[in-house]
Amino acid sequence: MTTDSTKEPAVAGPSAFSSLRKAFVFMRPYKKQIFLATVALVFTAAVTLALVQFVRVIVDVGFVAGSSQSLGLAIAGFLVVAIIQAFGTFARFYWVSWLGERVTADIRTAVFSHLMTLHPGYFEENLSGEIQSRITTDTTLLQTVIGSSVSVALRNFLMMIGGTLFLFITNPKLTSIVMICIPLVIGPIMIFGRKVRQLSRSSQDEIANVGAYVGESIQHIKTVQAYTHQQANEQAFSDHVESAFNVALARIMSRSVLITIVITLVFGAVAAMIWVGGQDVINGRMSAGELTAFVVYAVIVASAVGAISQVIGDLQRAAGATERLMELLHAPSDIVTPAQPRAFATPFRGEIVLDSLRFCYPSRPQTAALDGLSLHVRAGSSVALVGPSGAGKSTLFDMLLRFYDPQQGSVQVDGIDIRELDLLDLRRRFAIVSQQPAMFTGNVRDNIRYGRPDATDAEVEAAAQSAFASEFIEQLPQGYDSFLGEAGIRLSGGQKQRIAIARAILRDAPILLLDEATSALDAESERKVQMALDALMHNRTTLIIAHRLATVKNVDTIVVMEAGKVVAQGSHQQLLNSSPLYANLAALQFAPSGQTQ
Ligand SMILES: Nc1ncnc2c1ncn2[C@@H]1O[C@H](COP(=O)(O)OP(=O)(O)O)[C@@H](O)[C@H]1O
Ligand SMILES: [Mg+2]
Repeated sequence: MTTDSTKEPAVAGPSAFSSLRKAFVFMRPYKKQIFLATVALVFTAAVTLALVQFVRVIVDVGFVAGSSQSLGLAIAGFLVVAIIQAFGTFARFYWVSWLGERVTADIRTAVFSHLMTLHPGYFEENLSGEIQSRITTDTTLLQTVIGSSVSVALRNFLMMIGGTLFLFITNPKLTSIVMICIPLVIGPIMIFGRKVRQLSRSSQDEIANVGAYVGESIQHIKTVQAYTHQQANEQAFSDHVESAFNVALARIMSRSVLITIVITLVFGAVAAMIWVGGQDVINGRMSAGELTAFVVYAVIVASAVGAISQVIGDLQRAAGATERLMELLHAPSDIVTPAQPRAFATPFRGEIVLDSLRFCYPSRPQTAALDGLSLHVRAGSSVALVGPSGAGKSTLFDMLLRFYDPQQGSVQVDGIDIRELDLLDLRRRFAIVSQQPAMFTGNVRDNIRYGRPDATDAEVEAAAQSAFASEFIEQLPQGYDSFLGEAGIRLSGGQKQRIAIARAILRDAPILLLDEATSALDAESERKVQMALDALMHNRTTLIIAHRLATVKNVDTIVVMEAGKVVAQGSHQQLLNSSPLYANLAALQFAPSGQTQ
């Protein structure tokens, strides 16, 4: 009965601990360290309990019997055991903390690696700030639990069991009083523990909201200040912070109540014991040393129960954190390589066929971004996509790279439906310059080399030269080693585009996708970059989304898109006659008064 009821505090509902169990899977590789930590843990708990026996001897033999020689011996024994205890504690602390740090590091890496494989649509539904907070805050919580709370819980659990055993051996009658009190202590722990866990989850969610808000405001600081939005932002932010505070307060309240109840009950029981035991000593049924030992054991058991009730809160918080981390770790990707992927024939040709593609973004299931679009791009040819903004041109590139799967129709590259291909093998065939070129924290060289990590410095510089980027790069304070800041904040739009083009040139992939790649350049730079791109397009399948028609006059075919469909295709001259939409676009751009040229 003792074991059953004392075990209770460690169980806080099946759901809480099943998610923690998933985290413990990460401990599997570290059996040796777990073994060392467990040995140290059991050892130190046992030694603590044994020390109390020396206290009993010191009191009975030394004080009561008045023999200073025996007292000396007992104290010497006490000291030796205490020093052993100190070294045991060192080992326990070291190995338990080691496990906490190691497992946290592994979970962080695992979650991040998994995130990198998730389909882009996932990040449209989940805020990046919240995900960041999970990887940082939640893993830190988990680290506390594995690196300390679990050990505290286990150690105190052992002390509680051991202490209770010694109590029974020393005085069964007194011990019964302790046992009667145990259910009184466990009840409130169970009730408040559940509440703490729920509040903990919403507390973490609130903090994640705050994090996301900060990220966004800092990223767009110029817009915030230009629209003199600081005050509104401060207000919104302090609302977030206050609601995080209120949730935290509710959690703290529950926990404080829990601790108060536990302390009152436990020490009430201790007082009752000393009263009853004191009568036994007065009547000579028990020695003074035994009562001392009994009280010390009782205090050990009481503080063990107290400690467990405290770490239960941590464990429950960690269970919430783990739940969220495991959700993230097991989030299924909609876009995956099939079990038996097909391989491209060699040599790779780069023919693209789009067959009656229909696609709606997950967030807008009613509106088709692509609506029955069919297109054939011959291997090695160049195709320009033109049409009004929102026609679905960028979406088409997303389909080629298989960031999304279409609801109907198919994309074929060299005759193979891309859903049957290895994702890495498919994407390796493409070099893309996107509409908003992505710059990563690092220097210019790193950002160009992103296209091909094993490229030499000379190759990086040659690519920059072809993209007409070398001129401005060399004027930067540290040339190619200049730091770009977060998201390339220290560059102009046109400079970023040229770095992105250099990156694509360096990648040297058989299919080239350019999404308004030169839109931010001035006419002169655009003409130069265009020459470089023309050279690059030679013998390569190329799709160009172009805003300015002048830049695509030399392509093999111009495709006019509108509302997710291909409405016309042909050469510039053919389209002028056959497509009113194209003729209209051309009239606007090539007219003598045209502003865009
Ligand atoms: N991530 C997205 N989620 C939902 N709708 C989107 C998303 N991206 C684009 N759209 C919508 O899809 C349509 C096509 O967009 P897009 O392909 O970017 O057009 P284009 O590149 O031709 O200007 C637009 O109506 C746009 O609002
Ligand atoms: Mg676009």
